[in-house]
Amino acid sequence: MRSYESDYRRSIEQPAEFWLEQAHEIDWFEFPQQGLSQDAQGHYRWFEGGKLNTSYLALDYHVENGRADQPALIYDSPVTGKKQIYTYRELRDEVAKTAGFLRDLGLQKGDTAIVYMPMIPQALMAMLACARLGVVHSVVFGGFAAPELAIRIDDAKPKVILAASGGVEISRHIAYKPIIDHAIDLAEHKPETVVVYKRPGIEAELQEGRDYDWETLFAQAEPADYVPLEATDPLYILYTSGTTGKPKGIVRDNGGYAVAMKYSMRYVYDIEPGDVYWAASDVGWVVGHSYIVYGPLIHGCTTIVFEGKPIKTPDPGTFWRVIQEYNVRALFTAPTAIRAIKKEDPSGIYKAKYDLPSLKYLFLAGERCDVATYEWAKDTLGVPVIDHWWQTESGWAMLANMAGYGLAPVKPGSASRPVCGYDLRVLDPDGAEVGPNEEGAVVIKLPLPPGCLPNLWNDNERFVSSYLSAYPGYYLAGDGGYKDEDGYVFITGRIDDVINVAGHRLSTSDMEEVVAAHPAVAECAVIGIEEALKGQVPVGFVVLKEGVMTDPAEIEAELVDMVRKKVGPIACFRKAIVVSRLPKTRSGKILRKTMRFIADGKKFTPPSTIEDPTVLVEIEESMKEEHIGVAFA
Ligand code: COA
Ligand code: AMP
Repeated sequence: MRSYESDYRRSIEQPAEFWLEQAHEIDWFEFPQQGLSQDAQGHYRWFEGGKLNTSYLALDYHVENGRADQPALIYDSPVTGKKQIYTYRELRDEVAKTAGFLRDLGLQKGDTAIVYMPMIPQALMAMLACARLGVVHSVVFGGFAAPELAIRIDDAKPKVILAASGGVEISRHIAYKPIIDHAIDLAEHKPETVVVYKRPGIEAELQEGRDYDWETLFAQAEPADYVPLEATDPLYILYTSGTTGKPKGIVRDNGGYAVAMKYSMRYVYDIEPGDVYWAASDVGWVVGHSYIVYGPLIHGCTTIVFEGKPIKTPDPGTFWRVIQEYNVRALFTAPTAIRAIKKEDPSGIYKAKYDLPSLKYLFLAGERCDVATYEWAKDTLGVPVIDHWWQTESGWAMLANMAGYGLAPVKPGSASRPVCGYDLRVLDPDGAEVGPNEEGAVVIKLPLPPGCLPNLWNDNERFVSSYLSAYPGYYLAGDGGYKDEDGYVFITGRIDDVINVAGHRLSTSDMEEVVAAHPAVAECAVIGIEEALKGQVPVGFVVLKEGVMTDPAEIEAELVDMVRKKVGPIACFRKAIVVSRLPKTRSGKILRKTMRFIADGKKFTPPSTIEDPTVLVEIEESMKEEHIGVAFA
């Protein structure tokens, strides 16, 4: 009988053996001869020499092994009123034809493609079709504006952009094509082709010679077969916010990822093939990649593609309706989604309309789960609520109460203990391990387990400087935290300028760059402050140039508009406060952390290097005037 404790120990003491054993759970074309190896740059790689195809594992394997008629994908779109079910056979056939038109467009193994699509089945088909050919996909979330898309185009250098004509938000349609055209204008790299899946009611103008209609290409295409790939070949790039304006291109390989997905479905989520598993996220985020697309499909589950929000589509009972209708066994979402439901349905009146015998677990991740949200979810749903911690970089959970081994006691506020494969430590600034309940930097001792990033896309230097050089031999997660005496880890938040808005990871320095570009702004700081619904929201503090007499409200409106157009609506940048000066050290460094502590009402000691402590009083006053604090919404 396997136990968490024995498997964890083995995964750390004998990682290569442990993971080679897990590798037998997927169907390789050539089984890897070795678990761990090192690449030319000295980084660990998994399953070198193994050959497989992730799209084959997610589709064809199941068609050939008794699941052809099982639903693979259920599309439920309350915003359009559409519902559709694809069996594994149907999904495989759609993907093979999609891959066929990509092949006709000249795409082959090693090329890159950007996918800019909302939560529709074609988004998954685009990803799986790329994976079938060995084309590296990079999905860009629809809430990002054209300049952000342009940055990703220049970095990934896609041959093709696979797009939809638009997305459907709660109260409006968002046309994607003008955003794509603008991004291509801004980018230096010009994709050869844009393929647009036209959605009813959302027009897209096609540029002759460059743009094609998805359905026309699809109708003409012959199915393409899967291409055997090396385990270490890249499957996708997913850009995520770092501490500079330029996002990091996280690379995911094929072999390690497939093994990690298969293992995690069983041992993190306690899911069996055939079960219905629902990650209520978006394919633009890592949760969507791992647990809307690859994890559930590789495991032979039914995945749900939900195009809606937890509330207002049409009401806060929508999640419970989906769970009841499709017999969902596990729901995975962000705490923000639960807070949104709780706010609109505090006493669970909508929940009471549904019967949810199928639901066994609620998994939460993407941001800190506050105890009140945890308690409400547990009481309302009557199932275990499991907070687990991970990142785009890891691709799957690093801390979790691993349900597949049997649940351990829960400590609210903690995402529990390290997942098998993650040798998690908490270090002080000198690299020494801290004692129980002492806070420090959360790191993972190398090697990282399969599935985690092997590198950044074409940027080994940044990979090393961002993650590996702070503590040699360890991966720096970027979060702070502490371990208690039972080994439970409490994540306390980022130790850099990354913030989490409604479970979406964003960079405040990215927003600062935009705000600083306003002609009236002399200097500025954008900080993430605590907010009751979205967990954190960004707020800008700006000092105007000498002699600028503009109305602060006008400046604020202009800055809000600029961030919306340059970063995107998803940044939720809605507040910019004009102040006379910013707190700084004597060497001129803006004290953003101190400002954050003031905003969040936390105790702090101003650094001894502060230039003038009286400015803190002014900042606190201006925050009070703007009602900044947890009550700010
Ligand atoms: N394309 C274009 N715009 C988008 C978008 C997309 N795919 N997704 C969001 N936006 C826009 C929204 O329309 C909104 O624009 P607005 O400022 O004009 O209203 C803005 O970006 C912010 O979106 P969002 O954070 O979704 O806020 P909301 O007020 O519409 O909804 C919640 C609030 C709580 C319901 C929503 O944030 C939510 O569902 N959160 C859970 C997040 C989640 O599941 N994260 C997954 C990570 S695991
Ligand atoms: P992303 O890369 O978008 O998945 O964001 C990863 C970051 O989100 C982490 O570095 C954490 O700061 C935060 N995060 C994710 N899950 C949790 C969690 N369960 N508890 C606390 N923070 C979390």
